Amino acid sequence: MHLQEYAPPKTIDPVKARTRLDGALAVLPEVLGIDPSNVFLKQRKRGKGGERYGKLAEHGRFHQVSEGPARFWVNFTEHLDTGLFLDHRPLRAAIRQQAKGKSFLNLFCYTASATVHAALGGAVSSTSVDMSRTYLDWARRNFLLNGVDDSRHELVQADALVWMKASTARYDLVLLDPPTFSSSKRMEGVLDVQRDHVALIEDALKCTAAGGTLLFSTNYQGFKLDADALAHLSVEDISAQMLPEDFKRRPKIHRVWRIRPTT
Ligand SMILES: C[S@@+](CC[C@H](N)C(=O)[O-])C[C@H]1O[C@@H](n2cnc3c(N)ncnc32)[C@H](O)[C@@H]1O
Repeated sequence: MHLQEYAPPKTIDPVKARTRLDGALAVLPEVLGIDPSNVFLKQRKRGKGGERYGKLAEHGRFHQVSEGPARFWVNFTEHLDTGLFLDHRPLRAAIRQQAKGKSFLNLFCYTASATVHAALGGAVSSTSVDMSRTYLDWARRNFLLNGVDDSRHELVQADALVWMKASTARYDLVLLDPPTFSSSKRMEGVLDVQRDHVALIEDALKCTAAGGTLLFSTNYQGFKLDADALAHLSVEDISAQMLPEDFKRRPKIHRVWRIRPTT
């Protein structure tokens, strides 16, 4: 169990806040039927610089979790994100279900959990691109855990924006899940999903085989798709089907579109 508490504001009596948390910790293992040693508590605090949350450093411990036929390494203590975005479970399942016999491209792959599902669903080959060495190492460990053959499923460390433009390969199924914003020494310029999504989608379509499918997803809550600029494509909003039951109270957690060239 991964439990997160938003740090109580200063106006709340700290003893009262602690008592409330202790009360939750006392009953949760019993209610969920899990061993108290498998409860991981993380406190979310505002770090310097407004909206960002500080990282809570504890002992680095990786744990295995399962999701359908897949298993993943997650980290409940060192990173704010565990290595597995839970809101994308239906999207990963959909990818697994349609991957048989296909080639798969995972752009901004993070820990490559979607690629693991594609491989388990019978994808013949794949390429997963991310800029971060840390996440690609994590992805490799996820491949090992699931017996994913890395001679057919490659992990590429690159700026996905540059990689898409340079690649001549075509994939049957493409996942484009860019971060809301990204800037780094390793990349040229700054990525802003709202400003750049039309170009991103067009570049990703250049990597999509004739008759193939592009799945475009964003977690940016204020996102507006530029339908006019994409009017020459077949664009289907599949967000409702991709929302898991446990996120139904936050339907804006992400949006997902299925995009195909019309010709
Ligand atoms: C999958 S995206 C965003 C995930 C999720 N949709 C969200 O909003 O939090 C995060 C990943 O993008 C990677 N990333 C950011 N900018 C990148 C770039 N220009 N090229 C390749 N990977 C990049 C990061 O290393 C990270 O693994």
